Amino acid sequence: MCTVSELAQTANSVFGTTLLGVPIVIADLGATSSGRQYGGSGRNLACLVDRCLHRSTRLSAGWVDQCTIRCAYHGWRWAPDGRCVEIPSMPDSTIPSRARIESFDVEERYGLIWVRLRSGADTTIPACPAWDDPGMHIVPGEPYTWPVSAARRVENFTDLSHFAWVHDGSLGRRDLPVPPVPDIERVAGEMRFEYLAPPLDEQQPAALVGMSWYRMPMPATVCIEFEIAGKIGARRHLWMTASPIDDVSCRSFWLIARNDALDESDEEHLRFQALILAEDEPVVRNQVPAAIPVAPGAEISVRTDRVSIEYRRWLGEIRRASHIGAAAIDESVHSPVRRSAEGLALAADTGT
Ligand code: FES
Ligand SMILES: [Fe+2]
Repeated sequence: MCTVSELAQTANSVFGTTLLGVPIVIADLGATSSGRQYGGSGRNLACLVDRCLHRSTRLSAGWVDQCTIRCAYHGWRWAPDGRCVEIPSMPDSTIPSRARIESFDVEERYGLIWVRLRSGADTTIPACPAWDDPGMHIVPGEPYTWPVSAARRVENFTDLSHFAWVHDGSLGRRDLPVPPVPDIERVAGEMRFEYLAPPLDEQQPAALVGMSWYRMPMPATVCIEFEIAGKIGARRHLWMTASPIDDVSCRSFWLIARNDALDESDEEHLRFQALILAEDEPVVRNQVPAAIPVAPGAEISVRTDRVSIEYRRWLGEIRRASHIGAAAIDESVHSPVRRSAEGLALAADTGT
């Protein structure tokens, strides 16, 4: 997947990325055509495998022309459904019926372009409650790519016992290393739990610390709602989805939202998130293997890993329900993400 602004900033209205190992090109076709959209944002989008069937140049090196994608090498044009509609060197000849590139469902939501690799899959774009709340001021963050699976990214995002160590002073306290073990519910395809952070000596005004309600739409999205201590009625949200580039890397798309401190600069709030990411990134980058191992006992879990344990349990259920063979699963619990993301994932979105 990608952000709407990334697509808008391209010179040629095409954006190349990778989702679940599949190179894809996302195109904004302009006003008068429509790709295989499965939602109703109004933008005319198309998504194809990013490879021209003539001589294999990436279509993302081409450009949008007459509501199709024009290949840069010999000028063949490809329609939103993947059919070739023009071969400039053979204007009077029939276009081979084999000249059809695989196309995918594509939709804009939350300022992101979402891609579904398997049309008709029983998947939905995860909820982002702040986006539909007119009282919330939305601040989109810059996407970032980390060399771990989407599931590893989600686990880090929802790991309660790392706050004391990785975020000492910003989200947690090293002198209070024992987190609560939350009760976890499954509601409408989401894991949900509550968490109360310990009071900090000096809490930054833009800090997302306090009483928090976690929602985790499976398989790779997290939405946290915070009640800010001492600010009655103040609500802030942190939302992130990890789009699987492949089994060992993902691109995270995220936003923050608040209904308070509206006179404050957004920069301060983004800076706090940048601090948290800078604290997280070294430990996450150093996780080996980059995907969660599925072999029993490969990692040791303890009671305070309750969130991770329940998340892995649900991923395992998804994997088994998807009937993925053992060979395909390999060492990666990312397969459930693959299955669901095949249904729907950010192609930058980062379709991950
Ligand atoms: S490689 Fe695309 S038109 Fe020849
Ligand atoms: Fe963290």
